[in-house]
Amino acid sequence: MARHVLVLAAGQGTRMKSDLPKVLHPVLGRPMVRWVLDAVDALEPDSTVVVVGHGAEQVADVLPQGTVTAVQHEQKGTGHATLIGLGAIDWSPGDAVVVVYGDVPLLTGATLAATVETLETSDSLAVVLAAEAPDPSGYGRVVRDSSGDFVKIVEHKDASDTELAIAEVNSGIYAFDAEHLADTLPKLGTGNVQGEYYLPDVCNAAPGRTVVAHIAYEEMSGVNTHAELAAVSEIRRARLLDDLMRSGVAIEDPTATYVESTVSVAAGARLLPGTHLRGATTIGAGSEIGPDTTIADSAVGEGCHVWYAVVRGADIGDAVEVGPYASLRPGSVLRAGAKAGTFVETKNTIVGEGSKVPHLSYLGDATLGTGVNIGAGTITCNYDGVDKHPTVIGDDVFIGSDTMLVAPVEIGDRAVTGAGSTITKDVDDGSLAVERSNQRQVPGYGDKLRERKVAKRRAKEDG
Ligand code: UD1
Ligand code: CA
Repeated sequence: MARHVLVLAAGQGTRMKSDLPKVLHPVLGRPMVRWVLDAVDALEPDSTVVVVGHGAEQVADVLPQGTVTAVQHEQKGTGHATLIGLGAIDWSPGDAVVVVYGDVPLLTGATLAATVETLETSDSLAVVLAAEAPDPSGYGRVVRDSSGDFVKIVEHKDASDTELAIAEVNSGIYAFDAEHLADTLPKLGTGNVQGEYYLPDVCNAAPGRTVVAHIAYEEMSGVNTHAELAAVSEIRRARLLDDLMRSGVAIEDPTATYVESTVSVAAGARLLPGTHLRGATTIGAGSEIGPDTTIADSAVGEGCHVWYAVVRGADIGDAVEVGPYASLRPGSVLRAGAKAGTFVETKNTIVGEGSKVPHLSYLGDATLGTGVNIGAGTITCNYDGVDKHPTVIGDDVFIGSDTMLVAPVEIGDRAVTGAGSTITKDVDDGSLAVERSNQRQVPGYGDKLRERKVAKRRAKEDG
């Protein structure tokens, strides 16, 4: 018997008060619907259909390639969305259809598997997961008779006062017998306060053959507001950091460490407070990151030290030192043993093996060979107001402090530039380039100047 999954993600998410479709709001950097799909994938279903509607194209764009979607043009309720989704499934009698909502990012594959198994091993037509809610407000309530048997699910807005007092709520996660679902959905009515087709009415249509199974309240947490999004993200974050620590990553303060789910950190790395790792970032073994460092879409090798730094789109080799107060922008490549120190900014620049940029520099569109030393205050003047130009520096070059390298310019191997020079012409291998006026000395003039100033002040005070 085949297993199919429907993910309902067509709603607008009015309570988010945002143009972004609700299921696209990120949890640890990933749209929440992707977390739901992870749980679905773990079930290894025979087919999956995501029902999209509000922002359909935007939602479809973030789904894994090959995901089948069905479009619900008008949001007429969860029952209506399921009907549309079912139309895109090639089901046979006896199959199971799992339905989940796209706004439950804490859902696990194990829960889904248990739900389908309950359906498959009982003679039920529907299995619905319920939980005891600390605050059941807003949820559909599970109504039972005096002997505790399932009667129906009633939506908050349709519930009587006695029903509102029920703490057992519908999680919105179900497994249905495909035939029962297909027979019942077209017969649903909209005779309720919201005038919608309610999916829970499919359970209500066969109360004697509906099983209410249980799920931890935390796992079913649906996101309807920004506060709920933050709460769910917090749980995911704590779990992710826990996994990292178990795998051998040292995290000094997990309450002050932010790692997105797309990041990989090797065992033996150490994350200090205020570290934010985002996007496609990898951190190698033995590297220490932080405090107060953001790294996005970057690779960091082994044994590096990156602190008080902002690193974006960079490729950092082994044993590299970055910071404090460095900004590595996209296209920065720091090869093994290199350094970008205090108040250093790099962009689209390769710093060769063992080359150092220790203080107060801007390097843009530059290529540095190996063993180069860049003196404090050096700047590549890469932009002429219209175009960007390259600076090429050979191996074992010594750039004197406060050198302006006016691009395009090439500095040969082993060359040296004098401090304070503005270099506008290429420098040959092994040469010294100095560009500044000769220093003059006027003997005794310093003393004379001081005497003059002192005399002036005295005259002012006496007068
Ligand atoms: C729903 C359940 C409620 C349950 C709660 C759990 C119904 C009628 N009610 O209420 O019993 O306790 O979830 O969180 O099912 N959607 C569509 N198309 C639509 C309407 C909704 O795709 O026309 C999708 C939404 O994108 C969302 C999900 O279905 O992902 C749930 O919709 P929502 O409006 O949030 O339902 P609730 O009122 O929370
Ligand atoms: Ca909801």
